[in-house]
Amino acid sequence: MKGIILAGGSGTRLHPITKVTSKQLLPVYNQPMIYFPLQTLLTAGIRDILIIVAPDHSGDFVNLLGSGRQFGARFAYEVQDKPEGLAQAFLIGEDFIGKDDAAMILGDNIFTHDFSASVKSFRYGAKIFVKQVPDAKRFGVVEFDDKGKVISIEEKPEIPKTNYAQTGFYLYDKYVTDYVKTLKPSKRGELEIVDLNKIYLEKGQLTAELIQGDWIDAGTFESLYKASTIVRENDLGIDLETPPTVKVEIKEVKKPLAM
Ligand code: G1P
Repeated sequence: MKGIILAGGSGTRLHPITKVTSKQLLPVYNQPMIYFPLQTLLTAGIRDILIIVAPDHSGDFVNLLGSGRQFGARFAYEVQDKPEGLAQAFLIGEDFIGKDDAAMILGDNIFTHDFSASVKSFRYGAKIFVKQVPDAKRFGVVEFDDKGKVISIEEKPEIPKTNYAQTGFYLYDKYVTDYVKTLKPSKRGELEIVDLNKIYLEKGQLTAELIQGDWIDAGTFESLYKASTIVRENDLGIDLETPPTVKVEIKEVKKPLAM
């Protein structure tokens, strides 16, 4: 399973701070925001990670995260020239994903949930992760049965059918890029993740799983403030004292023949 952190976008809801840096580099209590989705992927056992960034400040992500070796992982980077939808990540990441399954996490989403069992047991189709929220119409709203089979999914509906929101963590099988290529931009000019999920829904291959604990999309001042509290109380993020180590394979180098 490959991992993608989508850290594009212009972060307009956090102006003027995001005029001079990226939203996903802002501090959430004691760590840069992107460390939290990164830790979520690492905890889920995902080691090959593509980080998609906006053109502005893109070098700062590389300065902060480097090759990934210090986190026991391998990082690749791509630029999203314009924020044209969450599903665009799979077009940008086409070569990186290759014939693998892919987990995507939004760079401003902070979870206390452990996704490792779901990643391990994932076989085909698509899986979304849902949480009950008081303000469902701000999100993708999901209706599902007691086996987790999704019945309907709607992006920011006026009248939500349930109060289950789809969060910013998604699992897709290897056909994801092919399906995204068939999508048309929505009214707001974006390739919508909900439209991608509807393709899987029509095939009867979209399942939903309820997450435990806290989930926050830290894209506004209010939620950023709440996120700092959650991080502080739950001691979330990368363990800065003992980051995971990576096994470096050293290939045997044959001595050149003496001339
Ligand atoms: C996006 C998705 C929405 C999902 C949300 C999770 O919304 O379109 O379905 O519930 O992420 O954070 P956006 O943040 O683009 O408004």
